[in-house]
Amino acid sequence: MHHPLKLAPSLLSADFANLERDVRLCETAGADILHIDVMDGHFVPNITIGPLIVRAIRSKTSLPFDCHLMIENPDRYIPAFAEAGADWISVHVEECKHLHRTLGLIHELGKKAGIVLNPATPLEFAYSAAEHCDFILLMSVNPGFGGQSFIPSFLHRCNTLRTHLDTHGLAHVEIEVDGGVKIDNSAQIYYAGANILVSGSGLFSGDLKENMRLMRCQSESITI
Ligand code: DX5
Ligand code: ZN
Repeated sequence: MHHPLKLAPSLLSADFANLERDVRLCETAGADILHIDVMDGHFVPNITIGPLIVRAIRSKTSLPFDCHLMIENPDRYIPAFAEAGADWISVHVEECKHLHRTLGLIHELGKKAGIVLNPATPLEFAYSAAEHCDFILLMSVNPGFGGQSFIPSFLHRCNTLRTHLDTHGLAHVEIEVDGGVKIDNSAQIYYAGANILVSGSGLFSGDLKENMRLMRCQSESITI
């Protein structure tokens, strides 16, 4: 099944001295979701945003907040992010010891639940938990930083996962892609079956609105 395209600018590439301005800009530029990268300096070698910032920007936009938790022991912090205004919460399978319990916790809090796989993590990790997910995020870079190069093996992995979901009664589960997504590769990514495109440097370099328009045009121009 091919889901409608959703563009999710990554806040990591925004101007943090003008966060309110950039959050509002994402909405007026036509974003569908706002992707928020939460890093703790342990699961990934970088530190970024906590619930305090999520809460601070919650009143500045009506865009759904997609909180990508790149943190150790996510169960401990999921309620805080939910309370701060997250709408979608995703956790890395490499980190969660009791994945079904974690996904259950996110759903109990009334949020959309997703799992994330690093580029080298076998897709089998997704298969056993997919029925408990609203979306699956496949990383196309190793997480931790914006501006990295897209890892091409993503395309095959994405295609394989989309086919698996569609043939196992899980066509409703959406696939999100994160890392190195640019205007130029967005069409092949969408064609491979990912419909939620996260992009930081690819959208924030230059005119966000124009970049988003071009990415949408390119992606939707292909025949599926
Ligand atoms: C990387 C983050 C991404 C990052 C993507 O670990 O999860 O969301 O912001 O940035 P770009 O699109 O610049 O690769
Ligand atoms: Zn991310």
